[in-house]
Amino acid sequence: MSTSKRRIRKAVFPVAGLGTRFLPATKAMPKEMLTVVDRPVIQHVVDEARAAGIEHFIFITGRNKGVIEDHFDSMFELEQTLQQRGKMSELELLARDLPGAGQTSFTRQQAPLGLGHAVWCAREIVGDEPFALLLPDMLHAAAKPCLADMIEAYEAHGGNHIAVAPVPEDQTHQYGIVGVEDVKAKVSRITKMVEKPPRGTAPSNLHITGRYILQPEIFDLLGKQTKGAGGEIQLTDSMITLAEAANQPFHAVRFDGQIYDCGSKIGFLTANLAYALAREDLAPALRAELRKLV
Ligand code: G1P
Repeated sequence: MSTSKRRIRKAVFPVAGLGTRFLPATKAMPKEMLTVVDRPVIQHVVDEARAAGIEHFIFITGRNKGVIEDHFDSMFELEQTLQQRGKMSELELLARDLPGAGQTSFTRQQAPLGLGHAVWCAREIVGDEPFALLLPDMLHAAAKPCLADMIEAYEAHGGNHIAVAPVPEDQTHQYGIVGVEDVKAKVSRITKMVEKPPRGTAPSNLHITGRYILQPEIFDLLGKQTKGAGGEIQLTDSMITLAEAANQPFHAVRFDGQIYDCGSKIGFLTANLAYALAREDLAPALRAELRKLV
């Protein structure tokens, strides 16, 4: 059993999804590059990882996702033009967001076989160390970034950690759901996990929100994982094996902030409004416009 507390240095971002729910916007542009205010969705999630001390950013991409790689690179012509025009604050903004040399890796998921398969594609780059996994569709807004909270819990307990939050009972079938020892605790041992339980069978209303800290033993299990819910290779199924057969501890870390599911149109639109309303430079004017609209 591994309860290693090696530092979490690497984070995996699965960004291979087709984005069919946003067509035609995502016909030629990855859904992860849709903007929430003035930053792409994927940038917000990378920001969260950086704020938690992550040093290496691993993207599981697919066909037509090349622009994500460009986004996390420097852009010489643009920077030179900004320099010539004296646009120093824009230049600083770009420099601040740029990952350091060698801090990004990109690999392709060659077939859309599911989240579990996407994570497995990161095995060679992650190697034999615990890592963070962030699902970019899910924006987690809070004063303290969700992953920072999780790393703190990990440093106290070791093992595997999953961020959870309550959802209405009629939505539990859409998510991974966990049962825990103490539903009120900030951090609690997980006693059960199930991916997309049929209506009325969920062990609780705590859903897996898309932030994980996992031990590297997950990769061997993912490599052998058979198809689960929706005919896809499910990460949750391998986590169940890691907990039950390999006897590794799993903890749920309750996230108390706001979650915006940017994989859905309403979640994405709401995220734009919420993030803009949180900005001093935009909120007053936006509020006035909203009053006219609704
Ligand atoms: C995935 C996970 C699920 C989790 C969800 C959060 O599902 O398999 O456990 O609750 O992300 O968004 P998907 O959204 O890929 O169907």
